[in-house]
Amino acid sequence: MAAETWTAVDEYVAGLLAPHDEALEAALRTSDEVGLPAIQVTPAQGKLLYLLARSIGAKQVLEFGTLGGYSTIWLGRAIPTGGRLISLEAEPLNAEVASKNIDRAGLGDLVDLRVGPALDELPRLETEGAGPFDLTFIDADKVHTPDYFAWALDHSRPGSLIVCDNVVRFGRLADPTSDDPTIPAQRRLHEMLAAEPRVEATTIQTVGAKGYDGFSLALVVA
Ligand code: SAH
Ligand code: DHB
Ligand code: MG
Repeated sequence: MAAETWTAVDEYVAGLLAPHDEALEAALRTSDEVGLPAIQVTPAQGKLLYLLARSIGAKQVLEFGTLGGYSTIWLGRAIPTGGRLISLEAEPLNAEVASKNIDRAGLGDLVDLRVGPALDELPRLETEGAGPFDLTFIDADKVHTPDYFAWALDHSRPGSLIVCDNVVRFGRLADPTSDDPTIPAQRRLHEMLAAEPRVEATTIQTVGAKGYDGFSLALVVA
């Protein structure tokens, strides 16, 4: 099965179920114009994040890795007035682009964008007493996914969801000898998910416009 087929199906599905409006279109266009890598979630994945947030009535959302704000807009649109989405982004240029895109989408009051490496920002959030978060989307530097997961779990409540992107990476997840440096971290994440009594979790492999990858979904149960 060819990657073109995965892309064609993604385009078919997105055209009907996750169409772009001007704000989402502008987020991709402006990101492209300044040379940000096109590694944002696909429209169908953005819609999934939106549906997950909607289905649990998420009001407090945490995102690791903003890039140009594309996934932030999908998530932000699921949050009712009075809620908040904190998004962590290490690169000032990305954050600048994202900030404009978030404002253009009318989400400027809802989204709290923090610029700096996430591991530096987390203690600040801790001091502020941020959370508990109803939904956390982990999509920043993949080697730190287990650290972000551990922090998110400690700042969740029973019923919260934690979603981790890019855990499968073309199937390398199953290869303990992979030379992809992100893989030991994704395997460590899976060991944590298996051993952690506070969550029940699964991982779903995906194909689509971004190739073959997958995401983990953890429900906080205690
Ligand atoms: N969630 C976005 C895509 C994020 S891409 C979307 O789907 O639209 C990953 C992002 O994580 C990049 O913007 C990168 O700059 C950021 N990043 C990398 N290392 C980071 C770190 N240590 N802390 C916070 N963000 C980081
Ligand atoms: C990369 C990062 C992502 O978040 C993603 O969804 C795909 C690729 C990357 O860094 O290559
Ligand atoms: Mg990703």
